Amino acid sequence: MSDSVRIVEVGPRDGLQNEKTPVSVEDRIAFIEALIGAGLHTIEVGAFVSPKAIPQMVGSDQVLRGVIDHVGNEFHVLVPNEKGYEAARASGARVIAVFASASEGFSRANINCSVAESIERFKPVIARAKADGVRVRGYISCVLGCPFDGEVGPQAVVDVARTLGDLGCYEVSLGDTIGVGTPLKARQLLRAVAGSVPMAKLAMHFHDTYGQALANLYAGMEEGCRVIDSAAGGLGGCPYAPGATGNVATEDVVYMLEGMGVATGVDMAKLVAATNEISRLIGRPPASRVASAMNAK
Ligand code: HMG
Ligand code: MG
Repeated sequence: MSDSVRIVEVGPRDGLQNEKTPVSVEDRIAFIEALIGAGLHTIEVGAFVSPKAIPQMVGSDQVLRGVIDHVGNEFHVLVPNEKGYEAARASGARVIAVFASASEGFSRANINCSVAESIERFKPVIARAKADGVRVRGYISCVLGCPFDGEVGPQAVVDVARTLGDLGCYEVSLGDTIGVGTPLKARQLLRAVAGSVPMAKLAMHFHDTYGQALANLYAGMEEGCRVIDSAAGGLGGCPYAPGATGNVATEDVVYMLEGMGVATGVDMAKLVAATNEISRLIGRPPASRVASAMNAK
């Protein structure tokens, strides 16, 4: 498996959206600059969502404006509806991500509507994005389990993935929102979804709540998936997914990939420095095993 993998760094968005300690716009921009300096190319930097739903993402317009002129990088932002799209566009967004769920319970808790209603909301957003030349990524949450509905079968994920693909999402990111998946299930899921959306258009977005994320990623890679979402320091979680912890840590992903002969272009020392600084700001040590090991040296 010595080919290339694309990492989508979601630390500044997923990583910070659930933190009790608010991180200022200036510090979020500095975090993103540090991630760029460490060699990360694609970074999700914020969310144009309701400030009541996610106060941590207030100021995403300033964050995006603060980094958008970096040449050669790609910046993503979450957009749940047309209001969010307009704000994202006004701040210069060139890539947006809409986010659906495979389960009704999480859809209702997270975005206050059913799965079918959420797709209807995305249609005008995606149509406007197409007309504006903005690329659209699609997330599906709860692909391996839901905090409200329990087990989620692959067919529910396949249906939403096909719909997002048909609507024009260039990539569909499969979210194990509460990190309950295990490698065999992850493999079966990737195989099932790839029957409807080409593997080249799928990404893995695995939270590490039960410590399975790296193993699940490896299983997904064996199926042929080559896009991995991760967050520096293993930051992350969703306030509407009770019990969920952080994303798989970017350091741990990079360490695994480099060990497999997959070049990532990431400078580990600089990445750990970025993680240490954001960890200091939020007052918590990094969840990343690699960062902990390197800090102990
Ligand atoms: P709603 O209450 O049904 O929406 O929320 P509404 O249209 O009735 O609007 C209610 C209020 O929100 C209004 O303000 C709107 O103007 C405002 P008010 O009149 O009460 O003052 N509003 C907005 N403000 C700013 N930007 C907007 C926007 N839209 C409405 N775009 C809504 C529906 C979707 C807006 C809300 O539920 C929401 O913002 N939810 C976002 C939740 C969220 O961000 N969750 C975390 C991200 S998803 C995630 O983490 C999973 C992922 O990582 C993958 C995985 O791990 O599985 C992606
Ligand atoms: Mg997530």
